[in-house]
Amino acid sequence: MPAGLHPRTHLSKESIFSRMSRLAQQFGAVNLGQGFPSNPPPAFLLEAARRAIGVVDQYTPPIGLPRLREALAEDLQVAPENVVVTAGATEALHALAEALYGPGDEVVMFEPYFDVYIPQARLAGATPVLVPMRLEDRWQVDLSALEAAITPRTKAILLNSPYNPTGSIFSHEDLERIVALARQHDLWIVSDEVYDELYFEEAPTPLRQLAPERTFTVGSAGKRLEATGYRVGWIVTPPALAPLVAGMRQWSSFCSAAPLQAAVAEALPVARREGFYSALRSSYRSRRDLLARGLEGMGIQVFLPQGTYFLTAKFPGIEAETLVREARVAIIPGAAFYADHPAPEGLFRLAFCKKPDEIELALERLERYISVKR
Ligand SMILES: Cc1ncc(COP(=O)(O)O)c(C=O)c1O
Repeated sequence: MPAGLHPRTHLSKESIFSRMSRLAQQFGAVNLGQGFPSNPPPAFLLEAARRAIGVVDQYTPPIGLPRLREALAEDLQVAPENVVVTAGATEALHALAEALYGPGDEVVMFEPYFDVYIPQARLAGATPVLVPMRLEDRWQVDLSALEAAITPRTKAILLNSPYNPTGSIFSHEDLERIVALARQHDLWIVSDEVYDELYFEEAPTPLRQLAPERTFTVGSAGKRLEATGYRVGWIVTPPALAPLVAGMRQWSSFCSAAPLQAAVAEALPVARREGFYSALRSSYRSRRDLLARGLEGMGIQVFLPQGTYFLTAKFPGIEAETLVREARVAIIPGAAFYADHPAPEGLFRLAFCKKPDEIELALERLERYISVKR
């Protein structure tokens, strides 16, 4: 056997999310770690998927099934020719990394960061530059630190709003300042908006509305329709760039699963018409509050999210792998989202896309564990 794979396979290590899910299964823990919903997808999506199998079974164009591009354009109020369908938002972000930057380039992003951003930048040969968010009584963006991080090598700003793991949403004013910086330094913007329908106060501003000429928006049917395993995502590109981005993803998955693209095309207008997203928001709001109240009742400091289905909290003196074994609750340590700076002391991310009785059981177990430790 030839010796050794390429050194870049150091990036292939198991993610903390997969590890915590595996440990959760092994120890019979409630899994508030990985962000996949306990709810099944809505019936209108399941029925559309069943109908599509046996009908839409062959390759679609790499740019996406035409009827899904049309449905996305209608839903997002963009031109269908600027839409590319991908195998989840993960592939969308990968295709953009391949299309936008390479060796010698820098990509500025915020820390804590969603786990795929750094390996994808590195696989493209670029250098990720991390700008830490400030955490006092809430998460805050430091735009002067963002400005200071931009160099002549910077190619793009990558941001996520609503933001995993902080749950924060960039204000309209913050986005305007970010756009002004991008224009001043002539940068691309990659706006990861997979939680665009998961907000609890004001709806987030889609960044493409402020800078259509330079913004790539990334979205996910998995997040919107509670079907993370379907692997249907999308990119909205600036004008005329969709064929080039689609041309890059033809070398990886070629296209997303055809019948599931057809199912999402059918489900998107139904979700909008039937108020699915507002029902989802109110269900998540009550689960967020259940979890936050329970934690606060134990004296835990909680940073209430404005969006996403994640909540951050400080559990001083707790260690995630001990917790999953001894308390049988899986949560993600803040360090999983930090590479360049230390994570805030005792920070954890908890997912509340789980059934209320799972959240209640996790709270009972945490309370017992914490009261014994104290
Ligand atoms: C911020 C963010 N971006 C992208 C993704 C990936 O989404 P998908 O499952 O559609 O690949 C996730 C998934 O957790 C996420 O939290």
